[in-house]
Amino acid sequence: FDLAPVTTFHIRARARYYASYSSVRELADILAMPEVQGLPVLHMGGGSNFLFTCDYPGIVLHSAVSGITFAGGDGPEVLATAGAGERWDDFVEHACRAGYNGIENLSMIPGSVGAAAVQNIGAYGVELADRIHSVTAYDTVLAREVVLLPSELHYGYRQSLFKEPHAEGRYVVIAVTVRLTSEPAFNLAYGPLRELAALDSLTSMDVRRRVMEIRHSKLPDPDVKGQGNAGSFFKNPVVSQDKFHRLVAEWPDIPSYPLSDGEVKIPAGWLIEHAGLKGARVGGAMVYPRQCLVIVNTGDAVASDVVALSGKIQDEVLRTFGIRLHPEVIFVGD
Ligand code: EPU
Repeated sequence: FDLAPVTTFHIRARARYYASYSSVRELADILAMPEVQGLPVLHMGGGSNFLFTCDYPGIVLHSAVSGITFAGGDGPEVLATAGAGERWDDFVEHACRAGYNGIENLSMIPGSVGAAAVQNIGAYGVELADRIHSVTAYDTVLAREVVLLPSELHYGYRQSLFKEPHAEGRYVVIAVTVRLTSEPAFNLAYGPLRELAALDSLTSMDVRRRVMEIRHSKLPDPDVKGQGNAGSFFKNPVVSQDKFHRLVAEWPDIPSYPLSDGEVKIPAGWLIEHAGLKGARVGGAMVYPRQCLVIVNTGDAVASDVVALSGKIQDEVLRTFGIRLHPEVIFVGD
């Protein structure tokens, strides 16, 4: 099965098997098939966070669990639930159209609802973890559906229970429920969103439109030929306050986000740009000039181009700033 069309990097790699399911029942049936026993299994949503560095010897499972529902009571609070196979951005669009607020800052993030919950997607001051009510998952160990609450989901920056080594592969996200509100409560702390605070009757759709403009201006579109990508390629690194002071002494313009524990998060995109790598290329892979945190497949990249470019970026950033970057993209292969 050719994985290029089902991953947003659009890089050639094949999987031994690929199967889609639209219910827990179908998923359990697939997992019980004799051909699948003993094979590695990989769950993929919108394919927006993977780099296959070689052919995959197992089965790639794709969720097509659909449905978006809103359940409200007398108050402004609403629980919105989406099937793991829904496109994340369709969920955001539905919520905004229905007049509910809470996830509009997460507009246009590529990928599925299921992947959003695994990855704890975040943008413009909001993380999914801030809004999560619960995740319904299929527990492959207990062979039944379970409901996971925030206390069990262990969310952190691009981190969750699903990525913890002991739980990896155990749970398959089936549906995600978030808390939304019809009250006008918006997070406009991110610089380019601040000006919206002056608007009289601001709606989540207004915020969504602004977020979409910002993203269009900075980020490549994986659906456009020559712009295949997997979003931020690296996580933003976190450094100690000491280290940060030493960096500022040398680089007075370095942007930063202070964290509650005194450490400081630094935008990897800025580090990559100031290590002189804007537009750097290896084969068909390129550092996207308008947002250096993204690596694009300019058309004919092979996985080894991306791996080599990623290594070059890590080396240069380490040499220039003494900071080690860790990929956010998941490498699958040797
Ligand atoms: N910057 C540069 N050069 C660059 C890129 C960024 O100087 O090439 C500077 C910007 O000028 C700005 C700062 O770095 O001062 C931060 O840039 P930006 O606001 O674009 O955000 P980011 O920290 O680079 C993170 C997320 C994005 C998310 C944005 C907006 C991570 C790994 N990435 O990027 O998420 O959209 O914040 O909130 O945390 C993704 O995960 O795929 C993704 C795109």
